[in-house]
Amino acid sequence: MSEHVAALCQHSTPFSQTLSFPLAGQDIRMVVHGERLPGTEDLFILSHLDDEDPESETANPRRYHLSMLQAEEEERKRIARELHDETAQQLALMQFNLMTLRNSDMSPQASDAYQAMEISLKAIQDQVRTLSYLLHPPELAEDGIEAALAHFPRGFARRSGLQIEFRCLSGPIKRDPDMEIAFYRVAQEALANVYKHANASHAVVRLRRTQTGFALEIEDDGRGVPEHILNGQGRDIVGVGLSGMRERVMALAGQLEVRLTGTGTLVTATIPRRRQCD
Ligand SMILES: Nc1ncnc2c1ncn2[C@@H]1O[C@H](COP(=O)(O)OP(=O)(O)OP(=O)(O)O)[C@@H](O)[C@H]1O
Ligand SMILES: [Mg+2]
Repeated sequence: MSEHVAALCQHSTPFSQTLSFPLAGQDIRMVVHGERLPGTEDLFILSHLDDEDPESETANPRRYHLSMLQAEEEERKRIARELHDETAQQLALMQFNLMTLRNSDMSPQASDAYQAMEISLKAIQDQVRTLSYLLHPPELAEDGIEAALAHFPRGFARRSGLQIEFRCLSGPIKRDPDMEIAFYRVAQEALANVYKHANASHAVVRLRRTQTGFALEIEDDGRGVPEHILNGQGRDIVGVGLSGMRERVMALAGQLEVRLTGTGTLVTATIPRRRQCD
């Protein structure tokens, strides 16, 4: 168990281990799961008695991981709603109160302070709006992955200066919230990587059908992922983005492939249509 915890701390390697020991004349089986929550420094360790039901969520690591991701998405949705309904409303009230001062007589210092407050308030309002959107993009729930992928890269391109195209080659997709949120989070992280690491000028996001399901591709024309990271030798030095994307699609029985194209990097997430989480 201590090696598992050490590997989790150092390399973010998730584990699930069953321990057996006697207690009050009974054989007790206990399952311990550990993982790093994607995109954070937080470790999550959970233990529970083994209920020995092979169909139970915790007895099945992939299903268990999927339910963790679903809980995480619910929490993001809750925070996004809170930011929108509470924080943004308070900021709007503050803006309204500030505006009532605009035409009043003010000393030059007060006028400077007033203008600085207006600028800061506007910046905070923009940040809250962006954060709330990224935590839970409303069009994902309302209009599906095609609409969300058409919209998100546009805003990302505006903020980052990257040229981003979205090509929907899949035709209409039957609604599948788990797959949609997984593709959306992969697109977010892969584009963030293009922006941070690739030194690219252009990226293309493609959604297409495969024989068994759907694939999301993010291709850039940048410097390419370093070989040692592709070979998995950079585990101790890299962040959690690539492993988080991989875990997300694997929880849906899918795969994540990262490869060099000769002119940049191609990240492909494939998720089968009919999945069995076992
Ligand atoms: N599109 C890309 N082009 C070039 N290098 C990339 C690209 N995507 C990832 N990389 C390389 O792979 C490494 C690992 O990426 P990963 O997303 O796991 O971590 P990170 O982006 O460094 O940190 P985090 O995602 O945790 O904030 C990066 O540090 C970078 O060197
Ligand atoms: Mg990253």
